[in-house]
Amino acid sequence: MSTEKHPATSIPFFDLTRQYSQIKAEVLSAVTSVLSTQQFIMGETVRRFEEQMASWWGLPHAVGVASGTDALLLSLKAAGLKNGETVMVPSFTFYASASAISLAGGLPLFTEVDSKTFNVTTKELSEMLALRGERRGGFWHDKVTGSRISGIVVVHLYGQMADMLSLSDFARTEGLWIVEDACQAIGAESHGKPPGFYSVAAAYSFFPTKNLGGGGDGGMIASINGDVDAHLRSLRVHGSVRRYYHDEIGYNSRLDAIQAAILGVKLGHLHSWNSRRGELARVYGEKLSDTPGILVPSVASGANHVWHQYTVRVTGEGKRDELKEYLAKKGIGSEIYYPLPQHRQEAFSHLPAQDLPVTDLLSAEVLSLPVFPELRDSEQELVLSAIIDGFFKGS
Ligand SMILES: Cc1ncc(COP(=O)(O)O)c(C=O)c1O
Repeated sequence: MSTEKHPATSIPFFDLTRQYSQIKAEVLSAVTSVLSTQQFIMGETVRRFEEQMASWWGLPHAVGVASGTDALLLSLKAAGLKNGETVMVPSFTFYASASAISLAGGLPLFTEVDSKTFNVTTKELSEMLALRGERRGGFWHDKVTGSRISGIVVVHLYGQMADMLSLSDFARTEGLWIVEDACQAIGAESHGKPPGFYSVAAAYSFFPTKNLGGGGDGGMIASINGDVDAHLRSLRVHGSVRRYYHDEIGYNSRLDAIQAAILGVKLGHLHSWNSRRGELARVYGEKLSDTPGILVPSVASGANHVWHQYTVRVTGEGKRDELKEYLAKKGIGSEIYYPLPQHRQEAFSHLPAQDLPVTDLLSAEVLSLPVFPELRDSEQELVLSAIIDGFFKGS
């Protein structure tokens, strides 16, 4: 028998069973209707969900694919990324923002992010071009590798969009395209527009823990350009427009009909789930902003944050890990997104080494707190009092 003491409270970092118990009847009925048609790949359910999503965003096009990673990969192909070209991407992100560039044949060039919003701005991009870029034949090239720099993956981390108005201006001036990694940012806006409005395309993930999550893997690409949309529709079915005739090497990457059915049900709740996240974030911000040792996240002007994560910085060497452990002992879940930045990953060790001190600092300081819509007010109060009255009063 274990002699370990169990904490008196138990507040999960995330709990999907609470959501499911509220929508079980709707989900089961939607899944059953797909089962009764036995049409599992593409078809009416997927088409309907794509239309639903496009109109939810107010964009003309939405293409369902198999995952957020594939959504990025196919978007990069549709943006015209060629083998051996370089794409700038923040190092402070999930691995797939960068691995998709490698999977598409490109070379990631890692940038810093703004330390208050965790997103890239024109400042970090300009600094990287000044450090590594040189203009040759009218195009940017990487001085170190000699490869052409053709585009940028802009990541909207934790549910807040980067400032796409200034970033798209910057990209246009510098002759670069943008693909948006909106995997964590469904419902977010920048200057009143969603991901996909200011760029070639925006990639979304329906991984179960996302603000809109399926019952498995899934993804979607939003765009405003009809040619991009048509290309993506071909790329997801083996590079084919006419069955068994293949124009290019494509992929097998489709959104399953069962996933589309589940997601269609959940979409009806997304506005209210996102606003509950907003309410929890507001309370965290209000209560934590005066706590010395904690830096609360900033919302940039013109941004509508959907709080996929509520992520604070815990300053002071080792303090973040101490706080995480303290919370765990009290039975409170918290997570680190992400402990090892991408420029330090073994998988990217073939790339020239980079020095990114802001990114390293963030990786050592960030801690995400429970912010899922079904978190109870009483539970949030316990999280806050454990941090403010427990950890910081005691240390
Ligand atoms: C920022 C970011 N990019 C890409 C992905 C990849 O999405 P998926 O897991 O659906 O492939 C995720 C989610 O896991 C993500 O959070």
